[in-house]
Amino acid sequence: MKAGSQIVLRNLLRENASPFDLRGDARTGLSSTPKTLPSKYFYDARGSHLFEMITRLPEYYLTRSETEILEREAGRFVEATRPRALVEFGSGAARKTRLLLDAMLERGLLEGYGPVDVSADASRHAADALILIYPDLRVEGVIGDFEHPRDLPFAGRPRLMAFLGSTIGNLDALQATKFLRSIRAEMTDADRFLIGFDLVKDASILERAYDDEAGVTAQFNLNMLRVLNRELGASFDLEAFRHRAVWNPRDSRIEMHLESLREQRVQISELGLEVHLASGETIRTEMSHKYTRESVGALLDTAGFRLDSWETDQAGYFALVLARRSD
Ligand code: SAH
Ligand code: TRP
Repeated sequence: MKAGSQIVLRNLLRENASPFDLRGDARTGLSSTPKTLPSKYFYDARGSHLFEMITRLPEYYLTRSETEILEREAGRFVEATRPRALVEFGSGAARKTRLLLDAMLERGLLEGYGPVDVSADASRHAADALILIYPDLRVEGVIGDFEHPRDLPFAGRPRLMAFLGSTIGNLDALQATKFLRSIRAEMTDADRFLIGFDLVKDASILERAYDDEAGVTAQFNLNMLRVLNRELGASFDLEAFRHRAVWNPRDSRIEMHLESLREQRVQISELGLEVHLASGETIRTEMSHKYTRESVGALLDTAGFRLDSWETDQAGYFALVLARRSD
């Protein structure tokens, strides 16, 4: 087979009804109190690259903890599902993914991989790298918003769906329930869903994971303003903001903010919008919810899933959950 023909990436972002609406989302978020911006806009080429750097930081334990579980359990997850294809939401660079693909390959099950991600750049790089490692793999990806899934790849074959990296934590309870229900609607009884949840732990460990010594997470957060400057002709001065990560115990989540260091007015020329920020006012750019076994159980239950297995790393920092549709 010719190299390129193994990879099909459908780009849904360019379609008319695309939910990827930076203009509308920026207008709504920057006109509300408190100000917010949706985290899916972090991931341009630079943002995706910075996120990859985050996964290697000493403070960011999540990737190491989840890798530890996958190294130990990937074979069992695959045995329990016997999937012919892996469909992954928020796949990014798809590094941990290889542990699942390897387990499928070893058992002669591996036919297809279906990454679903908003980052065209990350998706292309990941697909190119994967077909070098798995020469017979068919990649049918979707560049789009996983909160609006449709026509997921490899329908009709048993699939393992995966949502790694605690990206589910970036959704609030209502969004997470909606997301799970929408995937459930696409799943058959033969499909299984593997979901990574970061767990509640000491606040100082959590805050350090989102505010590292080297300042990579700060750069990642500030990248959102670069995206608005480039895409919407905004005039954000990156020097006039600082990155903040705070544990919110009431809502069991880390919140990422960009704090305005002075009173300022920012023009967003393409929106004809002027944004006023008081000194110390913040724009919330991300939430990362932390779960317990109980709160995971409750979420799955509400969304119509049954928990098949719960696996954590040795430290008990992170959980990988295998679930199926409940009837
Ligand atoms: N799975 C990888 C990457 C996690 S980072 C890991 O565990 O390390 C989150 C990924 O989800 C990024 O690749 C980002 O581009 C993607 N993403 C974020 N919001 C999204 C959305 N609404 N729809 C689709 N992809 C999204
Ligand atoms: N899914 C990742 C998480 O919640 C996303 C993430 C990691 C992130 N570090 C970040 C998002 C810093 C914004 C800022 O852990």
